Formats: sequence, structure tokens, C-alpha cells
Amino acid sequence: MASGLEEIEPDSGLEERTSSLSIHGHREEGEKNTRESKIVIAAIDFGTTYSGYAYIFRDELDKAKDSSEKSNVIYKHWQSGSDAGICSHKTPTCLLLNSAGKFDSFGYPAEEKYYNLMNNNAHLGWRFFKRFKMILLNERNLTTETKIPDDQNNIFKAIDVFALSLKFIKEDLIRSLKRTGFDIKEKEIQWVITIPAIWNPRSKQFMRMAAEKAGMKSKQLEFALEPEAAAVYVKETKVAKQRVSGDEHALVPFSVGTRFMLLDLGGGTIDISVKEVVPGRALKEIHRASGSGLGGDSINVQFFQHLEKVFGSKVMSRFKNENNQKAALYDLEMEIELKKRNLDFDQNGNLKIAIPPALIEMFEEDEDKDFEEHLNSFPGFKFKRGKLLVNQKIITEIFIPSVTSLIQLVRKIIAQENVTKISDIIMVGGFSQSPIVSKTVKDLFKHENVNVIIPNDPDLAVLQGAVMYRYWPEVVRTRRSPYTYGTRLLRLWLDGDDESKMTRRGKSKEVFCGDHFEKFVSLNDEFETGQTATIKVYPVEADTTEMAIDVYTSDKSDPRYTTDNGCEKLGRLVVHMPDTTKGLDRRADVTMTMGSTEIVVQGKMMPDGTPTKVVFDMLNAK
Ligand SMILES: Nc1ncnc2c1ncn2[C@@H]1O[C@H](COP(=O)(O)OP(=O)(O)OP(=O)(O)O)[C@@H](O)[C@H]1O
Ligand SMILES: [Mg+2]
Repeated sequence: MASGLEEIEPDSGLEERTSSLSIHGHREEGEKNTRESKIVIAAIDFGTTYSGYAYIFRDELDKAKDSSEKSNVIYKHWQSGSDAGICSHKTPTCLLLNSAGKFDSFGYPAEEKYYNLMNNNAHLGWRFFKRFKMILLNERNLTTETKIPDDQNNIFKAIDVFALSLKFIKEDLIRSLKRTGFDIKEKEIQWVITIPAIWNPRSKQFMRMAAEKAGMKSKQLEFALEPEAAAVYVKETKVAKQRVSGDEHALVPFSVGTRFMLLDLGGGTIDISVKEVVPGRALKEIHRASGSGLGGDSINVQFFQHLEKVFGSKVMSRFKNENNQKAALYDLEMEIELKKRNLDFDQNGNLKIAIPPALIEMFEEDEDKDFEEHLNSFPGFKFKRGKLLVNQKIITEIFIPSVTSLIQLVRKIIAQENVTKISDIIMVGGFSQSPIVSKTVKDLFKHENVNVIIPNDPDLAVLQGAVMYRYWPEVVRTRRSPYTYGTRLLRLWLDGDDESKMTRRGKSKEVFCGDHFEKFVSLNDEFETGQTATIKVYPVEADTTEMAIDVYTSDKSDPRYTTDNGCEKLGRLVVHMPDTTKGLDRRADVTMTMGSTEIVVQGKMMPDGTPTKVVFDMLNAK
């Protein structure tokens, strides 16, 4: 029997919410995919710690599609002022605004300018933002109004921080394009922004809005999942060894049937996906992308937690929050970053960390103790000539949470029934450069016949893959659903239903069950790009003119009610049914389109062709 939907409550505040709704950035029906008409494909990797961009002229990709040769992707070489001559493919994800809230600089120049301002005690009022991407993973109630603190704890709208950063990257890319001498118009650029696979749809929507604010037209903008992009790149790269003759081997791309696991170990997130190469140089997803927020930066956080133990939380918090100590704090952060990367233990197995004299003075003043003596009660720590000596055992402890999370995630994936025969593990992202991390992964697979590969240019894997993927999305033949998706419906009462869900509706006061989770697709279900799932819904009252359909996700395979643990409301879709002539004998089809990196839910009153207005609430869902 038909499911019934709840009508919109008269005071649901829908009007207020719909203003910022509208299926944001998705192609309207009938509108053609314009990707083919773009001359340039430009990808932005907006990382937690580092960001970069790359672009390619389409005809280069046309050539690359027919051969496994690397295509001619152009990268920006970012130059750090303090290490003159040192170029990298990414620049720090840091934004500096002046005291009027206007853009000043982004990346290395922002970092350097703010550092100089701090050193001259002239930084008050300037707004410096870094590591802000993590808010999109951690903030469950993200809206366009969400605020984030700057370095001096003054708050600012997160969406503007993202938009101003993206605007700078976009404009820098356009400047770089112009220098090539080609007269490229903005409308001829197809934008791709890479995002962690473990973001929820709300975070993706937020990023889209920020990109639009930055001036990227929504219909010219698409997302690529970071581990997926890296997998596309790796698939086209010569990473597999093949015997040519006798003892002679050559490097070739993976052959059809190869199953590999891709680990994108970034500053913020650990992203994992498992793929199989299928005919047509395409990829099939063997396990849905998963991960955690314990990337490389979590090591720095752990370092600071240990410092808090030895200095005490009062002293540490004073040191962190006093505006005239900002330059010293920055020095300490840089020192920890450097030591984390190099891990150059002395002959006694200690790592030496230079501690700003101001911190020691603060400790001795506040605690009235000698710091060196104080450390006698902290095994594993010593203090000599301005350096904190941290024993290797403590350093191992510092790496444990992140490394354990990585091991658990990998183990959980390989324990799945269908995840067998993985022959290669590819590690990309800056954190995979850590010898502790790569050794952990190698040790995990040492008894299996699995190759652990860290490509020479792991920085570029995501960017290059994103460019290729967006030109050629069919390369990802199938995906697996990261959530169970569904809607909240009223349905007829079933034996065993929860009494609290009982409600009577309609003229005959029939018994219904509320909050029923009606599934579009289950967690980890495999689907093809563009595949749709439809739920048929019927009005409960004959005079209904609008049906509100709440869309939910769940991290469980079989949620019964939308109020179960792990369920989250994504937003609301409103299907208009103005013609009431047929009363209860009317139907709306609610269709979810899977396969793009975002989801599209559309509602349509049947029979065919009856135009219905569709509104989708995501960021502003209460
Ligand atoms: N040699 C190294 N040893 C340990 N960590 C390293 C090393 N080199 C880089 N990292 C860490 O890698 C991280 C940066 O990696 P990457 O540039 O891939 O991250 P991101 O793209 O900014 O982050 P995300 O992908 O999570 O948004 C930082 O945490 C950095 O400290
Ligand atoms: Mg990254």
C-alpha cells in the first residue's frame, strides 16, 4: 500500500528557508552538460594545510585519453619568500585580511606578512586564518552563518574565509592562463574543486556556495573526490612492474583486474578508497571511500598536548592567547612541524625542540619553579640549553592515535567479504612522507604479497587526477554509497512498530507510523554513475497542495526510523501538487540521482510532465 507523506505544517517556517534553497548549482533539466565546450579544465586542491591548482588545455587531454602517456598538465610553482629559491606545488592554506576585513594575501605571502606584523607587534586587528578547512568535517551544524575564529580569536563568517581564499586561487590561475598568451574567457573554464571523500553532502554544498561567492559559475563547477582523483592518476601512471623478457622488467600502468587501495594521507584527513581496474581504462569501486580526521596535523596537536602536560594548561593557554606572544607561538609551531617531518633523533634517542625563551620565562614566573628541575618529574623529557629533549618513546606515543586510526581503517576495509585480492597500496598526500607512517603500512602487509608504492610526486596525484577525471568522468564506472540515503515518510502501521510513532490521519483516522526511513540506497551499495532511485509518495489528505519531503542520511545500513542513532537530516524538498481534483489518487515521484559527487533529489507530481516546483534545503536545514 502507498506510503503517505506529511503535509507541511503551517508554521514550519518554510518561506524563510526556501529563499536560500533551490537546487544549488545543479544543471536544470534539459540543460546540456557544457563540460565538452570548455577549452581549459582547471583543478583546485584546497587542502587543510596546503593548496594548489593545475590546469590543462582540453586538446592535450584529448590526446592523453587515447594513450597512457602523461598529459601536459600545467602547475603553479609557489615560491616561499623566506626560503628563496624553494618552489613547491602547493602553498599554505592561509588567508590574511586587513583590519577592515578586506583581502590582503593568501599562502606564503600571507604567512610571511603576518609573521612580520607579529614580530613588530603590529598585528592587532589583522585577521589571519589557517587550518580552517577542518570545520567542514567537524561542524555538524554548518550553515552559511557559521563563524570561525581568526588567529586573535575574533570571529568571521566561515563562508567568506573560504570564498576569499578560493577567489585568490581562481584569480591567480586566470593570471597564469593569461600569461600563456591565449585569450581564454572565464566562461571557457571548467572548474574542478577536490574534496575529501568523507565529507558529508552539507560540507560539499557549503564549498559550492563558497566557490560561487568566489565567482565560479555553478554550472562550470564540479567536484572530484580526493582519493578518487588520486586513483585515476595512479591508474594512468606506470607503477606496476612487468617482465619484458628474462630478468628484464619495465614499469607499466595497472592491468585490467588489478585491485589497489589508495591512501590519501593529508594534513586534515586520512582518505581511503579501494578500486579495481576494469576494461576501457576505467575504475570500479570495491569499497566506499572512508577515512578519519586524524591526518598529519593531528600529530602537531598531540605534540602540543604533551607540551601542555609539562608546562601545565594555565601557562600554555596564557602563552597561546597572549597577543604579544604570537610570534613566539608561531616559531614553536614551525619548530614542531620541522621536527615532526625530520625526526632526527640524537645518539641518545632524543628529539630536540627549541622552546621560545618567553614560554620558559612565563612558566618560571607563574609557577615559581625552575623549569629544568620541574622536568625531573616527567620521564622522557629533559631541558638543556633552551632545547626540550623528547625521548623517542614519547614521540612514538604522539604518533599512536593517528597511526592506530589508519591501521583500524585499513583493517576494517580488508576484513570486508568482497575486499579481496588487493595487490597494491598507493600512498599519496604529505603525511605519507612520514617514515613512521609508511613503515606502519608496510608492516601491516609484510606477510601478504602486496606492494606498497609511494609515487615520486604524491603532491600532484590529486590535482592531476582531478583534471583527468573531470574531462573523462566515465573513468569511474561504479561507486559505492557513502551513506544510506532516504526520506522520512508516514506509512501504514505495522505490527511491532514503536508506539510513540503512532499517528492517525485522514478522514477515516487510519493508523500510520511516523518517522519511517524509506531508503533510496543503502550504505556501500554499488551504483553506476548517473543511476537513479525513486520513491513513490502519496498525499494523506485529499486537499494537500504541497508535500514536504525530508531527506535523510544514515551511517547504518538499515535504519528503521529517521530518529534512530546515526540518522541526520540533509534538508527538505517541497513537491507542489496544486491540482487537487484527483484527491488521494495522486502521486509524486521523488528521485535521487547518484553517481555525481553530489546528490540531486527531485520531486515531480505524476502523471508525466506535470510541472512541479522543486526546492531543496541543505545548508539551512534546521
Ligand atoms: N616528511 C613528512 N613527515 C611527516 N609529515 C609530513 C611530511 N611532509 C608533509 N607532512 C604533513 O603532511 C600534511 C600535508 O599534506 P597534504 O599537503 O597532502 O595535506 P592537505 O592536502 O593540505 O590536507 P587534506 O588533504 O587533509 O585537506 C601536513 O600535516 C604536513 O605536516
Ligand atoms: Mg589533500
